[in-house]
Amino acid sequence: MGFPSNRLRRLRRTPVLRRLVRETALSVDDLVLPLFVREGATERRAILSMPDCFQLSVDELLREAERAFAAGIPAVILFGIPDRKDPRGSGAYEATGIVQRAVRALRKELPELVVIGDVCLCEYTDHGHCGVVVERRDGTKDVDNDATLELLAKTAVSLADAGADVVAPSAMMDGQVRAIRAALDAARRADTAIMAYSAKYASAFYGPFRDAAESPPRFGDRRSYQMDPANAREALREIALDLDEGADIVMVKPALAYLDVVRLARERFDVPIAAYNVSGEYAMLKAAAANGWLDERQAMLEVLTSIKRAGADLILTYHALDAAAALRERR
Ligand code: PBG
Repeated sequence: MGFPSNRLRRLRRTPVLRRLVRETALSVDDLVLPLFVREGATERRAILSMPDCFQLSVDELLREAERAFAAGIPAVILFGIPDRKDPRGSGAYEATGIVQRAVRALRKELPELVVIGDVCLCEYTDHGHCGVVVERRDGTKDVDNDATLELLAKTAVSLADAGADVVAPSAMMDGQVRAIRAALDAARRADTAIMAYSAKYASAFYGPFRDAAESPPRFGDRRSYQMDPANAREALREIALDLDEGADIVMVKPALAYLDVVRLARERFDVPIAAYNVSGEYAMLKAAAANGWLDERQAMLEVLTSIKRAGADLILTYHALDAAAALRERR
């Protein structure tokens, strides 16, 4: 130790000193709570692989959203579980679709809450893919990019018409942001923002979500449209394209296995960046905590802080309610 001594521990001595020099402040303002809505009344159906998350009927969804908003959480993102599925996912864009009805109810009861509608077809198609499936001449099946764009645009407009503040395309079709922006503008919805799932990877960590949303692909996988987990530079191309097409917020998903991508995006782009702490990341932590293998609250705050530290402005997380409570108590 020379002089002046290079001691770093003196600023770690007390909790208040540590608070004073803390670089990253996780805030309830950063959090978005994902919610699953299904048909029926007064029902909270447990999701086995996602402890403390539920498929909610519209009335129960209102309760949960009220709780979130009262806890300071500014936004929710909605996923629907329709009663009927068909090849073209019509439940995604019907005016009376389950999410459209949920959005209307939220708009009425909680006018200030930011309501985000996920725009994808996989929860609504009987084959479970995110777009229209076509058969190629050689007999193989494929998701048709351009045929899907029109349906995604219809979905976005119907959610905006229902009152969504933000639409969030997650189908990973090329040109989806442009198609949606054009359709919203044509429908006089210029004020509806787009949060693009720009860098969405073909990830094993979506497993529990597919249970929750009842949306696993019936054949094949999503690797011909979602990104290869090995690619980071390509994520920056995806983000640049989405911004060029009119995205207002861009997203990296999942978050934890892709913190380097969040960081690269933060350094390159001066727009709000979202990161999705996905279902598998949530389930891992919950399972370990249930076994007493780690401290749930500490681990949760550490994970969420790491996502913020990497450069995310918004964090979509199933821990949002617990995190809000923990942040309230921590100070
Ligand atoms: C819809 C969609 C998925 C998720 C969000 N939107 C599933 C998928 O692409 O298979 C995953 C969210 C999570 O795992 O928490 N396309």
